[in-house]
Amino acid sequence: STKEQRVAEIVAEHAGREGPMLPILHDIQHEFGCVDGEAERVIAGALNLSRADVHGVVSFYHDFHEKADPRPEVQICRAEACKARGVENLMAGAKQAAGERVKLSTVYCLGLCSAGPSARVGDTLHARLDAAALAKVIENA
Ligand code: FES
Repeated sequence: STKEQRVAEIVAEHAGREGPMLPILHDIQHEFGCVDGEAERVIAGALNLSRADVHGVVSFYHDFHEKADPRPEVQICRAEACKARGVENLMAGAKQAAGERVKLSTVYCLGLCSAGPSARVGDTLHARLDAAALAKVIENA
């Protein structure tokens, strides 16, 4: 499959380095939102490990997920400049707006430091957020 090919490419990019497993898993998690059984199989084959070995690593680290999270994601910047602009005061309301439906994640800088607090949904950046604006971003995610 194309996914299998892409996983194989990612594995090949890291295969020469020492300790390639974690960088490979990070890239796959980042690109596909998970490291599933198919990916484990390709990695195992390429690194000459058993699938159980690869699975052991995937399940050990909280960074890796066996299934993609189906919820929409809102990334909220909580780095220095956005902190200075009050992002922490927005977090309780954001969690309430998100409930179980939307996944909130923290990022450190979205490049909009002078216009924070800022957030990102997919490829869309949102700047100058106050509580109401952030709640709306989350509701529309
Ligand atoms: Fe939040 Fe840079 S610190 S966008």
